Amino acid sequence: NSKPIVILNYKTYLESSGLNALKLSQALESAAEESGIEMIGAPQAADLYRIHQETSIPIFAQNIDPISPGGHTGHDLIDTLIEAGVSGSLINHSEKRMKLADIDEVVKLTKENNILSCVCTNNIETSKAVATLSPDYVAVEPPELIGTGIPVSQAQPEVVEDTVKGVKEIDSSIKVLCGAGISNGDDMKAAIDLGAEGVLLASGIIKAENPKDALLELVSKL
Ligand code: G3P
Repeated sequence: NSKPIVILNYKTYLESSGLNALKLSQALESAAEESGIEMIGAPQAADLYRIHQETSIPIFAQNIDPISPGGHTGHDLIDTLIEAGVSGSLINHSEKRMKLADIDEVVKLTKENNILSCVCTNNIETSKAVATLSPDYVAVEPPELIGTGIPVSQAQPEVVEDTVKGVKEIDSSIKVLCGAGISNGDDMKAAIDLGAEGVLLASGIIKAENPKDALLELVSKL
């Protein structure tokens, strides 16, 4: 069994935007180094390039649009994101929902471009649906728990367990993550005990007084 991973979704909190995004990335970098646990940051598109230049953390985009180069004002083009330094992307999210056909196109784009794909889902059924597209990761997050501090791994353990089971039945190479309300070591340990291979989280770390300490505590019970 490989070591669990942590993906930190910066979303659009001021605490994780602009210069604060760089500081948070430096915290992630030292927490990953000290703990030996892989930690990936997913900052906003405008912050990617600087973070790539000034830190060595792996970075994911928060979004890729199903487009090819050309006339698509306001969209996120995979080629530009890769040049800015991403090694993967979140795809679909309860805060930015995509159609299944578009998720399929973007997963294919990531495969053609050799970057990692982490499709976020809202429940067991959609997790199974996207598993047929064989992304690298499926991250299940019940929307009603996102941002609440009530951890999915403790409040809805069956969602984590049944997503792992359902996804692995379809494609055993997919790694299943869970998220929503995860903020401390107990939440993360519960997720791993339920069969998840890591967590996708945001506010619990971003809003912490000291994000580096919060990250170290998060992985301290593994
Ligand atoms: O993508 C991660 C996310 O939606 C979970 O948010 O703030 O509950 O950790 P949060």
